[in-house]
Parts: sequence; C-alpha cells; structure tokens
Amino acid sequence: MTINIPRGTQDLLPDVTGRWQLIEQTAAEICRQYQYKEIRTPIFEHTELFERGVGDTTDIVQKEMYTFKDRGDRNLTLRPEGTAGVVRSYVQHKMHGQAVQPVKLFYSGPMFRYERPQAGRFRQFVQFGVEAIGSDDPAIDAEVISLAMELYSRMGLKKLKLVLNSLGDTESRLAHKEALIQHFEPRIDEFCSDCQVRLKKNPLRILDCKKDRDHELIANAPSLKDFLNEESKAYFEKVQHYLDIMGIEYELDPNLVRGLDYYNHTAFEIMSNAEGFGAITTLCGGGRYNGLTEQIGGPTAPGIGFALSIERLLAALDAEQVELEVNDQVDAYFVAMGEEAKDKVVELNYTSRHSGLSTEMDFLNRKMKGQLKTADRIQAKYVVIIGENELQEGKAAVKNMHDGTQETVPLDEVINYIRKA
Ligand code: HAM
Repeated sequence: MTINIPRGTQDLLPDVTGRWQLIEQTAAEICRQYQYKEIRTPIFEHTELFERGVGDTTDIVQKEMYTFKDRGDRNLTLRPEGTAGVVRSYVQHKMHGQAVQPVKLFYSGPMFRYERPQAGRFRQFVQFGVEAIGSDDPAIDAEVISLAMELYSRMGLKKLKLVLNSLGDTESRLAHKEALIQHFEPRIDEFCSDCQVRLKKNPLRILDCKKDRDHELIANAPSLKDFLNEESKAYFEKVQHYLDIMGIEYELDPNLVRGLDYYNHTAFEIMSNAEGFGAITTLCGGGRYNGLTEQIGGPTAPGIGFALSIERLLAALDAEQVELEVNDQVDAYFVAMGEEAKDKVVELNYTSRHSGLSTEMDFLNRKMKGQLKTADRIQAKYVVIIGENELQEGKAAVKNMHDGTQETVPLDEVINYIRKA
C-alpha cells in the first residue's frame, strides 16, 4: 500500500514553488524598505507559551493544537501562529534594551492547526507576518496595516477590503466584559458547555462560538464600541487619521473580533472581494497586543502585527486571475554531438552559469533530435549546437528559438553572444 500525505497538508511541486518564491521575495523586499528584519523562531515551543499567549479559552488552544510530549516528558506544541514565539524571543533576548526602537521583525514559515480542511484552510500552512514591538504610537498601527496592503497590491490584487475595529484598552474591555457576563449569566444554561466555561473566563469568546452562533442573546449582546473610553476612541481615531493620510481605504466593523486573546485597541482583517472566492474570505488578520510581553513574563512593551497565509494569497490571485511572472527563463541549451563536442559543452555550460546565465545540457546521451526537443520543451531562448565539424572550425551553430534564425559564432564568443542578446 502506498502512503499518502496527511490530511490538510500539501506538497508544493516545482510547477508552483516559483510562485511561492516570488511572493516570499516580494514580502522580504517590502520589509527591507519598511525596515523590518527577519526573525526565525522554532517550529515547536513549550505548550504553555500558547496557553498563556494565544489564550486558553480560544479554539486554537482548546481544539486545534498539535501537542505532544517529547522523550524527556516535556509538553511541546507545533506553533499554531507566529506572534507568541516572536514575543517570547523578544523577551528572552531582551530586545527591549536594543538601541534601535521599536523592534520591527518579520517572519515566514509553516504553522499548524488541527482544523477541518477545506478550500483555503489547511492543517499546515505558511504565514508571512510582521511584529513591531516597543511602540504604542498609532502611526505604527497604520504602518503595519499599510505593509500588508502593499504586499497584496504588489502581487497584483485589487479586490480587497480592509476592515478595522477597536477592541479598546484594558479598562474599556473590563467594562464590556462585566456587561457581557450580566447579559449571558441568567440564561447561560442554554449555551454549550464551552460557553459556560467562557462566561467567567472570557465571555467575549461566546460571541464567536460556532455552536451557539444563532442564539438570540448573541445577536443583541452589548457591543464593545459602547464601552470604549475616551482614550481608546482617540487612539482609534488617530489610526484612521494616519490611514487617511496614506490614502488607504477601510471599513469600520464593530463586530470584528479576532480568534486570539492577546488583542486590544486596533484589530483588522483584510478580505478578498473577488467573485468566486471561497467561503473563507479573510486573507490577513492582525492587531495590537499591549500586555502580551508581560503575560509571558517580560517587561512592558506594546506591540502590533499581522499574519497572512501564502495559501490564501495564492487563492485570491487565482480568483482575480492574476498571473505571476515567475522568472524561469533558460538562456541557452547546449547540444553536443560526439564525445569531444560533449567535453566542450560541459565546459561551456559551466562557464555560462558562472557568468550569470541560466543554461542546460543533455544528460541522457540523446540524439540531436531528442536534445532539440528538450530545448524546445524548456523554452530555451538559444540552442547552441556543437558537432565534430563545428569543433574543428572552432565554431558553434547558435539558433534563436524565437525567430528560428541561426548564426555561426566562434566558440570563445558564444557566451558573450548570448549574454548580449
Ligand atoms: P490569525 O487570524 O489566526 O492570526 O491568522 C492570520 C492569517 O493566517 C489568516 O488571516 C489566514 O490568512 C491565515 N490562516 C489561519 N489559519 C489558516 C489555515 N488553517 N489555513 C490557511 N491559512 C490560515 C494570527 O495568526 C496572528 N498571529 C496574527 C497576528 C500577528 N496578530 C498580531 N501579530
């Protein structure tokens, strides 16, 4: 019996990895311009990091983590997201003491969630994300949002919607929490067992419960926006003000809550509006997390960031029928006829690559016809034919595969000829 790939994962074969590389390179280039530096943290962390960071009443922690014990009996978890690990690393390496503040980081790598696989939802997926830690200037909220929008725009997406909300500061959230408890408590026995636990620990989570979502009490629950204090409102207005300056359009959605517990103040998501895009339309999610560093035992350091998956970015590109231009151009294919000619082809193929060209030759001892067929298949720009006659004359036949023209070029000028072309 053959062994297949685990459910919810995928093999990225060479016909698609070019697109992945292009997206990752573009993201890294934007981060260079925005002055975000790459960080790479482990793929597994202590389970406790996510329990404390992401929140032990969230679906991610309760239902979706790949948790295991290693041979030393440690409780470890494959990271379900990147923020907790980055913030752990920030604390561990005392980055708050660095000369340049805030600390602006980006990452890209696989995340793992035991979710029900469907279009746009995988159990292993790749997130690109940024975290800016050490500033609570609303201008950096706007910068982080603009960075995400910039990536989508450079990749060619147009049908996007940016949705913003404020989750308020601790004081506003506490007032809201009290109101939610009073609202749900009298009839909490009509809710699922998870929600009964959530009531005391984190009643906000009841609002995005998948089982109880149609309950009337959820529809008319007190809204956080009515509990935002003046400071929180002023902060949120500043974020919008800076987005206005950048000309970035957004919609406000007081019902936008995020699935992770560490958020306060700014929360945002970027959705695809493209027709035919699947049921899951969120491409990117992020927000502010003042207080997360303290939760994992570090000093006070406010932060904001986002993450987006490359899988959903690609799905949005497909939905908008955007073709990415992947550079896999083959400049020349060297055709050898005879042992001696092959020696010359091995040499030329090597020196061409050394000079920066992308070239190929035959490795299956095929006849001329077979070699030409391969050159055609891989869409080589030029075919360089070297046989015994050519070798004796010190020349090669160079064929332009676009227009079919052919020229005789001295062997020691072949590379220059192709480079110039
Ligand atoms: P999140 O909303 O859980 O936030 O995930 C962010 C993005 O990851 C989603 O918008 C989506 O593009 C992608 N994503 C999540 N789950 C899956 C899945 N199963 N399959 C494919 N793509 C998925 C976070 O992870 C936060 N750490 C974001 C953040 C960074 N907030 C502040 N800094």
